[in-house]
Amino acid sequence: VKPRLSTNCIRIIIVLVISHIDEVRSVLAPVRHASRIIGFVPTMGALHAGHLRLIDEAAKTSDSVVVSIFVNPPQFTEQQDYQAYPRQIETDMALCRSHGVDVLFAPAIEEVYPQPNCAWIEVASVSEQLCGKFRPGHFRGVATVVMKLFQMVQPDRAYFGEKDAQQLSVIRRMVRDLNVPVAIVGVPTVRESDGLAISSRNARLSDTERAIAPALYRALQCAAQQIQAGTTSPEDVKRAAMAVLEAEPRIEVEYFEIVDPEEMQAVPVVRGTVRIAAAIRLGPVRLIDNILVSRPELNLIE
Ligand code: PAF
Repeated sequence: VKPRLSTNCIRIIIVLVISHIDEVRSVLAPVRHASRIIGFVPTMGALHAGHLRLIDEAAKTSDSVVVSIFVNPPQFTEQQDYQAYPRQIETDMALCRSHGVDVLFAPAIEEVYPQPNCAWIEVASVSEQLCGKFRPGHFRGVATVVMKLFQMVQPDRAYFGEKDAQQLSVIRRMVRDLNVPVAIVGVPTVRESDGLAISSRNARLSDTERAIAPALYRALQCAAQQIQAGTTSPEDVKRAAMAVLEAEPRIEVEYFEIVDPEEMQAVPVVRGTVRIAAAIRLGPVRLIDNILVSRPELNLIE
């Protein structure tokens, strides 16, 4: 991989597909030695507009862009979900090529998890809230694989979607607490025109479920409006938002919470900036979403 050429040069775009750890390190060594910024987008593949936004952001702010594709078994709570996860490496390669990715790193499971794998990363507290309550071991699997990938790629910056806000908080905390020299960049959620957050799971919704799914975003917006209108009781905010979800009998709510954006702990009173986060089940699909809401004008008075 050559350090990226200046933007007014013509770049011949070749995505290098690498599956071995020593290879990815040696390919990136000259970029690192030239003090060029390596931007990294870890993914599980099946790339969609949300991933492409991360890649575009990495391409804008880094000299070389590395994307990893690795479907990580330990972060799946159900074996069936792991098996069903879409794999489409050819399509992903073409998307990487058209979005300026320099290296596509797709390690085999044996390289990532030599057996027995005895070292795991547990990020206490922030992992235990929200999704952590419903998906035991999920964030341990995410934190461990992200740390492993950071050791393999050794990026300067890594890009994660705000749609998975709790994952982003877990990773920020891991990097801070373990002094990992990687800057974590959060990238805003990409939505369909009806507000549904883009996710690889959306493809598993039936037509009827797809028509119902935007109720999740409407409920988040309803909560945000309550907060902006001055409601400070989380229970009152949640009651209004839950009415939106309850109007759709096929939606099963896993959680709907108003939390502080760093620790992801439910707040006793709404003030300052909060994150409204929710998870629902719709047919066979679990959907999550969240939005950040601030009431700065009230802070001045309080
Ligand atoms: O967000 C994802 O796709 C995954 O959780 C990640 C960060 C690639 C780890 O497997």
